[in-house]
Amino acid sequence: MDRMTKAKKLLILIGSPRRAGNSATLAEAVRRGAEEAGIQANVRFIDDFISSFLRDCRECRLDNGECGITDQFRKLFFDDFLPSDGFVLCSPIYWYGLSAQAKAFFDRTFCYYAASYPDSERIMEEMSAKRIGLVLSSEETYPGAALGITHQIQEFSRYTRSEFIGVVRGVGNSRGEVESDPSLPVAAAVRLGQQFFELNYTDYNMNTVRSSRVWPKNE
Ligand SMILES: Cc1cc2nc3c(=O)[nH]c(=O)nc-3n(C[C@H](O)[C@H](O)[C@H](O)COP(=O)(O)O)c2cc1C
Repeated sequence: MDRMTKAKKLLILIGSPRRAGNSATLAEAVRRGAEEAGIQANVRFIDDFISSFLRDCRECRLDNGECGITDQFRKLFFDDFLPSDGFVLCSPIYWYGLSAQAKAFFDRTFCYYAASYPDSERIMEEMSAKRIGLVLSSEETYPGAALGITHQIQEFSRYTRSEFIGVVRGVGNSRGEVESDPSLPVAAAVRLGQQFFELNYTDYNMNTVRSSRVWPKNE
């Protein structure tokens, strides 16, 4: 069966090291919503798998072409990321950017799509055409704090021909404090999970043929 006929698979990646933190609270909400919608959802803490940054492949690639870094990234990437139909990255904002764990996840994919990996063409294909969601936790409330990360994920989506369908932002600092955010990010994260593969995704250009309405009219 191909991606169209199987139950959809959603990978929820947590970029925070805090097990009961705000990213984890929101990730759990995405998972609840997704499972309600019959989506197969897996939650993973990136730092359970990654303990190294990307290195120079010329220094550490093995003779058989495999990556020589001896952590669990390969397992996360091959068992969970590549087979997924979409992923939600749940990251705290650290210094107006992604956490190092989350950034290292994207950097480390290079070990497998680089031409020096024997199966790189298949890897590039399987990295492409996913649905992508972003869930951010931050202490500050102002919109600009999230723009750098949002732009980065937008560019990743464009580059991989993926659909960047939405952003949820929760404000809080101490563990789980996003539950008190009056903008109700936990409920928004549940909704993101529920609607993940159904949400209307559009990215027009001037020539796109379209009607003047976006949503069906309620009569
Ligand atoms: C190293 C570090 C850098 C941070 N930088 C920012 C920042 O630039 N802007 C901000 O709003 N919050 C910042 N914070 C606060 C976290 O984003 C906030 O506490 C978030 O809710 C933590 O999410 P977590 O519970 O999933 O770890 C920073 C926290 C840490 C530890």
